[in-house]
Amino acid sequence: MVVIIGGLFLVFLVARLPTTARETTVVSATIANPNDARLVALGEDVYQAQCASCHGANLEGQANWQEQLTSGGRPALPRDETGHTWHHPDEYLFSVTKYGGQARSPADYQNNMPAFRDILSDQELWAVIAYIKSTWPVDVQRMQAQTNTP
Ligand code: HEC
Repeated sequence: MVVIIGGLFLVFLVARLPTTARETTVVSATIANPNDARLVALGEDVYQAQCASCHGANLEGQANWQEQLTSGGRPALPRDETGHTWHHPDEYLFSVTKYGGQARSPADYQNNMPAFRDILSDQELWAVIAYIKSTWPVDVQRMQAQTNTP
Protein backbone atom coordinates (compact mmCIF):
# COMPACT_ATOMS: atom_id res chain seq x y z
CA MET A 1 0.00 0.00 0.00
CA VAL A 2 2.79 2.41 0.95
CA VAL A 3 4.53 1.53 -2.29
CA ILE A 4 1.38 2.19 -4.32
CA ILE A 5 0.80 5.54 -2.64
CA GLY A 6 4.48 6.40 -3.07
CA GLY A 7 4.27 5.43 -6.74
CA LEU A 8 1.16 7.52 -7.32
CA PHE A 9 2.80 10.46 -5.60
CA LEU A 10 5.83 10.09 -7.85
CA VAL A 11 3.62 9.96 -10.96
CA PHE A 12 1.87 13.08 -9.68
CA LEU A 13 5.19 14.84 -9.18
CA VAL A 14 6.51 13.75 -12.57
CA ALA A 15 3.31 14.85 -14.29
CA ARG A 16 3.93 18.35 -12.94
CA LEU A 17 7.41 18.61 -14.43
CA PRO A 18 7.83 20.46 -17.72
CA THR A 19 7.82 18.04 -20.67
CA THR A 20 11.53 18.24 -21.48
CA ALA A 21 12.59 17.54 -17.89
CA ARG A 22 10.08 14.70 -17.72
CA GLU A 23 11.50 12.93 -20.78
CA THR A 24 15.03 12.78 -19.48
CA THR A 25 14.12 12.22 -15.84
CA VAL A 26 11.63 9.41 -16.25
CA VAL A 27 12.98 7.48 -19.21
CA SER A 28 16.51 7.16 -17.86
CA ALA A 29 15.71 6.66 -14.17
CA THR A 30 15.97 2.85 -14.23
CA ILE A 31 18.69 0.21 -14.36
CA ALA A 32 17.30 -1.15 -17.62
CA ASN A 33 18.03 2.15 -19.34
CA PRO A 34 16.75 2.05 -22.95
CA ASN A 35 19.03 5.01 -23.80
CA ASP A 36 22.23 3.16 -22.83
CA ALA A 37 23.48 2.09 -26.27
CA ARG A 38 25.97 -0.50 -25.00
CA LEU A 39 23.44 -2.12 -22.69
CA VAL A 40 20.83 -2.18 -25.47
CA ALA A 41 23.32 -3.77 -27.91
CA LEU A 42 24.09 -6.52 -25.40
CA GLY A 43 20.35 -6.95 -24.80
CA GLU A 44 19.64 -7.34 -28.51
CA ASP A 45 22.19 -10.17 -28.75
CA VAL A 46 20.66 -11.86 -25.71
CA TYR A 47 17.14 -11.38 -27.10
CA GLN A 48 17.94 -12.89 -30.49
CA ALA A 49 19.73 -15.85 -28.88
CA GLN A 50 17.30 -16.59 -26.03
CA CYS A 51 13.90 -14.95 -26.58
CA ALA A 52 13.28 -14.57 -30.32
CA SER A 53 12.41 -18.25 -30.82
CA CYS A 54 9.23 -17.69 -28.81
CA HIS A 55 8.61 -13.94 -28.73
CA GLY A 56 9.58 -13.38 -32.39
CA ALA A 57 12.64 -11.87 -34.05
CA ASN A 58 10.77 -8.55 -34.20
CA LEU A 59 9.13 -8.95 -30.77
CA GLU A 60 5.82 -9.75 -32.46
CA GLY A 61 4.93 -12.73 -30.23
CA GLN A 62 3.72 -16.14 -31.37
CA ALA A 63 0.85 -16.51 -33.86
CA ASN A 64 -2.58 -16.20 -32.19
CA TRP A 65 -0.98 -15.08 -28.94
CA GLN A 66 -4.34 -13.83 -27.63
CA GLU A 67 -5.74 -17.37 -27.51
CA GLN A 68 -5.38 -20.04 -24.84
CA LEU A 69 -3.45 -23.16 -25.87
CA THR A 70 -5.35 -26.45 -25.73
CA SER A 71 -2.22 -27.84 -24.02
CA GLY A 72 -2.68 -25.27 -21.21
CA GLY A 73 -1.42 -21.73 -20.65
CA ARG A 74 -0.89 -19.12 -23.35
CA PRO A 75 1.49 -18.69 -26.31
CA ALA A 76 4.39 -16.21 -25.99
CA LEU A 77 3.10 -12.63 -25.97
CA PRO A 78 4.55 -9.86 -28.11
CA ARG A 79 7.29 -7.88 -26.37
CA ASP A 80 6.66 -4.85 -28.60
CA GLU A 81 4.35 -1.96 -27.71
CA THR A 82 1.24 -3.82 -28.94
CA GLY A 83 1.65 -6.33 -26.10
CA HIS A 84 1.04 -5.92 -22.42
CA THR A 85 4.70 -5.71 -21.41
CA TRP A 86 4.79 -1.94 -20.96
CA HIS A 87 2.09 -2.11 -18.27
CA HIS A 88 4.66 -3.72 -15.99
CA PRO A 89 7.52 -2.15 -14.02
CA ASP A 90 11.11 -3.24 -14.71
CA GLU A 91 11.27 -5.25 -11.51
CA TYR A 92 8.37 -7.44 -12.65
CA LEU A 93 9.85 -7.99 -16.14
CA PHE A 94 13.22 -8.86 -14.57
CA SER A 95 11.66 -11.27 -12.09
CA VAL A 96 9.46 -13.05 -14.68
CA THR A 97 12.48 -13.51 -16.96
CA LYS A 98 14.83 -14.61 -14.18
CA TYR A 99 12.50 -16.91 -12.24
CA GLY A 100 10.00 -17.84 -14.97
CA GLY A 101 6.33 -17.01 -15.34
CA GLN A 102 5.10 -19.79 -13.08
CA ALA A 103 6.70 -18.16 -10.04
CA ARG A 104 4.35 -15.15 -10.51
CA SER A 105 1.24 -17.19 -11.48
CA PRO A 106 -1.43 -19.01 -9.49
CA ALA A 107 -0.66 -22.71 -8.98
CA ASP A 108 -3.66 -23.77 -11.10
CA TYR A 109 -2.45 -21.70 -14.08
CA GLN A 110 0.17 -23.20 -16.40
CA ASN A 111 2.62 -20.46 -17.39
CA ASN A 112 4.92 -21.40 -20.28
CA MET A 113 7.48 -18.63 -19.78
CA PRO A 114 10.76 -20.41 -18.85
CA ALA A 115 13.19 -19.25 -16.11
CA PHE A 116 16.57 -17.89 -17.25
CA ARG A 117 18.38 -17.71 -13.89
CA ASP A 118 20.79 -20.52 -14.87
CA ILE A 119 21.35 -19.16 -18.38
CA LEU A 120 21.63 -15.36 -18.10
CA SER A 121 23.51 -13.12 -15.66
CA ASP A 122 21.63 -10.26 -13.96
CA GLN A 123 23.41 -7.84 -16.26
CA GLU A 124 22.21 -9.77 -19.32
CA LEU A 125 18.69 -9.82 -17.88
CA TRP A 126 18.64 -6.03 -17.34
CA ALA A 127 20.18 -5.63 -20.81
CA VAL A 128 17.45 -7.62 -22.54
CA ILE A 129 14.78 -5.57 -20.75
CA ALA A 130 16.56 -2.37 -21.79
CA TYR A 131 16.60 -3.66 -25.39
CA ILE A 132 12.88 -4.51 -25.36
CA LYS A 133 12.08 -1.06 -23.96
CA SER A 134 14.30 0.61 -26.57
CA THR A 135 12.06 -0.75 -29.35
CA TRP A 136 8.99 1.06 -27.98
CA PRO A 137 7.98 4.60 -28.99
CA VAL A 138 9.12 7.21 -26.46
CA ASP A 139 5.57 7.87 -25.19
CA VAL A 140 5.16 4.16 -24.41
CA GLN A 141 8.58 4.14 -22.69
CA ARG A 142 7.40 7.07 -20.61
CA MET A 143 4.15 5.36 -19.59
CA GLN A 144 6.05 2.21 -18.62
CA ALA A 145 8.64 4.24 -16.71
CA GLN A 146 5.82 5.65 -14.59
CA THR A 147 5.06 2.09 -13.39
CA ASN A 148 8.57 1.93 -11.87
CA THR A 149 8.75 2.89 -8.24
CA PRO A 150 12.09 4.28 -7.01
C1 HEC B 1 9.98 -21.31 -24.74
C2 HEC B 1 9.34 -20.08 -25.17
C3 HEC B 1 9.79 -18.80 -24.51
C4 HEC B 1 11.07 -18.25 -24.47
C5 HEC B 1 12.34 -18.84 -25.02
C6 HEC B 1 10.93 -16.96 -23.80
N1 HEC B 1 9.62 -16.75 -23.43
FE1 HEC B 1 8.88 -15.12 -22.44
N2 HEC B 1 7.05 -15.97 -22.40
C7 HEC B 1 6.70 -17.14 -23.01
C8 HEC B 1 5.26 -17.38 -22.84
C9 HEC B 1 4.49 -18.56 -23.35
C10 HEC B 1 4.78 -16.28 -22.08
C11 HEC B 1 3.32 -16.04 -21.63
C12 HEC B 1 3.09 -16.72 -20.31
C13 HEC B 1 1.66 -16.53 -19.86
O1 HEC B 1 1.27 -15.39 -19.62
O2 HEC B 1 0.97 -17.53 -19.75
C14 HEC B 1 5.92 -15.41 -21.82
C15 HEC B 1 5.87 -14.26 -21.07
C16 HEC B 1 6.92 -13.39 -20.86
C17 HEC B 1 6.87 -12.21 -20.05
C18 HEC B 1 5.69 -11.70 -19.23
C19 HEC B 1 4.74 -11.06 -20.19
C20 HEC B 1 3.88 -9.96 -19.72
O3 HEC B 1 3.80 -8.96 -20.46
O4 HEC B 1 3.23 -10.13 -18.68
C21 HEC B 1 8.09 -11.59 -20.17
C22 HEC B 1 8.54 -10.28 -19.53
C23 HEC B 1 8.91 -12.42 -21.02
N3 HEC B 1 8.17 -13.52 -21.43
C24 HEC B 1 10.21 -12.13 -21.39
C25 HEC B 1 11.04 -13.01 -22.04
C26 HEC B 1 12.45 -12.76 -22.29
C27 HEC B 1 13.16 -11.45 -21.94
C28 HEC B 1 12.96 -13.87 -22.89
C29 HEC B 1 14.40 -14.15 -23.27
C30 HEC B 1 15.40 -13.97 -22.25
C31 HEC B 1 11.85 -14.83 -23.02
N4 HEC B 1 10.71 -14.26 -22.51
C32 HEC B 1 11.97 -16.08 -23.59
C33 HEC B 1 7.54 -18.00 -23.68
C34 HEC B 1 8.89 -17.84 -23.86
